[in-house]
Amino acid sequence: MWLMRKEYLLNQYEAPIAHAMKEYAGDGALAFHTPGHKQGLGAHRLLRELITEEGLRQEVSLMEELDDLHEPEGCIKAAEALAAELWGAEDTMFVINGTTGAIHAMLAGTLSPGDEVLIPRNAHRSIIGGVILAGAVPVYIQPEVDRRLGIAMGLSLSAVQGAIADHPGARALVAVYPTYYGFCCDLRAIAEAVHEAGMLLLVDEAHGAHLRFSQELPLQAIELGADVAAQSTHKLLGSMTQTSMLHIGSSRVDRSRLRQAAGLLQSTSPNQLLLASLDIARLQMAEEGRERMAEAVRLSRFLRAEVNKITGLYSPGRESCHTGIDSGAVCLDDTKVTVNLDGLAVDGPEAELILRHQYKIQCELSDARSLLFIISMADNEAVVKRLLAALKDMAARHLSAGGRPEGYEAAEAMGDMPRPVQRMNPRDAFFAAVRPVPLEEAAGAVSAETVAFYPPGVPLLCPGEEITAEIISYIRRYQALGMRLSGPADGRLATIRVIQS
Ligand SMILES: Cc1ncc(COP(=O)(O)O)c(C=O)c1O
Repeated sequence: MWLMRKEYLLNQYEAPIAHAMKEYAGDGALAFHTPGHKQGLGAHRLLRELITEEGLRQEVSLMEELDDLHEPEGCIKAAEALAAELWGAEDTMFVINGTTGAIHAMLAGTLSPGDEVLIPRNAHRSIIGGVILAGAVPVYIQPEVDRRLGIAMGLSLSAVQGAIADHPGARALVAVYPTYYGFCCDLRAIAEAVHEAGMLLLVDEAHGAHLRFSQELPLQAIELGADVAAQSTHKLLGSMTQTSMLHIGSSRVDRSRLRQAAGLLQSTSPNQLLLASLDIARLQMAEEGRERMAEAVRLSRFLRAEVNKITGLYSPGRESCHTGIDSGAVCLDDTKVTVNLDGLAVDGPEAELILRHQYKIQCELSDARSLLFIISMADNEAVVKRLLAALKDMAARHLSAGGRPEGYEAAEAMGDMPRPVQRMNPRDAFFAAVRPVPLEEAAGAVSAETVAFYPPGVPLLCPGEEITAEIISYIRRYQALGMRLSGPADGRLATIRVIQS
């Protein structure tokens, strides 16, 4: 039996899950157990090519050497404790269903049906999913929108204070920190306000698993007062896609309830390769996280500075951040390099395709007016220089003759966006019978879906909210400008799904 030893726990330079897997695979026991491929023996050639013989040999679960994700006692407990130590958490839980799963567990593990929860209006769909699972009642807070970039930033302290004053009985606030584009709200001040009001601070830190490893980057959420933070280890560090961590930062939350919630939402046969990859990503950061992140920060600053020398391109840096209670971005994670294309005659999706097919370069995302590039601990100077050369060439070929880009107005108008009335909570809307109706006939009906323009990605409608003539006309106006809709089942919104009355 693999036993957790105290000295092992203190050793960041071991990988207990991989160690346990190797131990079973090396034992040579004849397999009369799951998985059906029996350590690769029955696996298809393509699967063997993909996962490798050794990967399949170790891809087992439920052996005595291994551990139970839901009630960890052995190698998973040790690996989680090592992760908690490295990230400075009171406790850490491994999640094999992405940060979506971690956020679902975070909300279902801290909220109860009927609880009010304050959330940014542009919350990722996983937060809305968590609200549906918990049966909570969302109170949306408008994030700051950067008019120049056309993207949503974080929540300002003043907006949070206003929401707390209007909803003093709310159970928690969910913050997104950093945003996809790397902008960070004043989480420390928000944490103080939230805790003073007796609420919990739950953080979607999907894009912040690396922050801990560089003093030149913003502090991570639990260091600023978050009670729980969900991090996508897979997005920015070295674990496999689908693997995340839930860090518990305070004793305000009931850890056993969080674990119970994660248990409801995750498999009883978690893939050991995924779990081992989380443990190994932690080991890698313990071994060389500081050096690697120092290089990633250096490269990203170099990239940003060089992009800003290219005519037609602009990469926002710390000048886009400002302090004060109305600011939704007080600092920036430099490793997220956004390249604004307002000076070019191509939009974001077109530029993404050009880079992909003419230069063999793939960005993380494109929106109407920019591209986002992630510099991680895997990058080096040569790849950054290749990207720069491609951007330079593309910019020279597609320089705009001038004029204001489409989409600018939509971001500018976000402050004047119609605010719908919430008629049902998202859970009731989710379980209700729905039907599609032509958008022009939907005034007065309750939306069953989310409708947003991206960017800035702040929804005009969320499930359970009333559709009005004003909203319909707003949607049509910005569609006519060529803005991209996100959320609805019918992407052009000829019809919208509404709750059957
Ligand atoms: C802000 C934010 N939160 C949560 C998620 C969900 O993360 P995952 O893809 O690991 O489920 C994402 C994914 O892109 C995200 O951007």
